[in-house]
Amino acid sequence: MPPIPHIFQIAIDGPSGSGKSTMAKRLAKALGIGYLDTGAMYRALGYAALQQHIVPGDPDAVEPMLLETDLDVAFDGDRQMTLINGEDVSSFIRTPEVSMAASDISALPAVRLFCVERQRAFAEKHSVVLDGRDIGTYVLPNAKLKFFLTADDTIRAKRRYLDLLEAGEKVDLEAVLHDLRRRDEQDSTREMAPTKAAADAVLIDTGSMTEEEVFAMLLHYCEQYGCGS
Ligand code: DC
Repeated sequence: MPPIPHIFQIAIDGPSGSGKSTMAKRLAKALGIGYLDTGAMYRALGYAALQQHIVPGDPDAVEPMLLETDLDVAFDGDRQMTLINGEDVSSFIRTPEVSMAASDISALPAVRLFCVERQRAFAEKHSVVLDGRDIGTYVLPNAKLKFFLTADDTIRAKRRYLDLLEAGEKVDLEAVLHDLRRRDEQDSTREMAPTKAAADAVLIDTGSMTEEEVFAMLLHYCEQYGCGS
């Protein structure tokens, strides 16, 4: 009989701009395991709703949309492509408008169940790092290692602002901070699976740390917990 592969899951949660996606990608690469950006799934559904002139927070309109929607992810090297009905929508889902739509649509229980089912299926096949808001508390409560990254909201808004500028978006720092606070509030107070640190998560305030310092800290925990490649 072939040996049973050692499969483990790492959860990285936190609010927007906490650095979780950057860290999740780097960690997955360093450990030679899979990576899933779960926020991209909510973003893709938010984008699909806007395209169809559906109000993302309206369950009566969104639920029928889900029945017609095929949501999938594929990888080109380590670049995640998020597909709606076979079309890669990755390049359309990072705008401020889609960010807000993602937050609105992600509060609907039917949407959460739809996405979580796919996230769990992805995570049971091989070792993975998943980043999101509710990975450690709800999606993968038995993850071997859980991190919750955070930082002051003004610092997170500045990071998001710089990302958007780099992506060629015309943005205003005050507007980015305003949207980020609105999303923080909405994502952390929704009824189902809000943004929350799991009781057994390692909490890291990335505000005054460099990217390298955060990464070194995560790697250190991975070694301690036996999450090697
Ligand atoms: O991580 P992000 O900014 O790409 O996420 C976009 C939105 O999706 C965010 O406002 C909340 C939602 N989200 C969620 O509810 N649960 C997750 N696991 C990931 C994201």
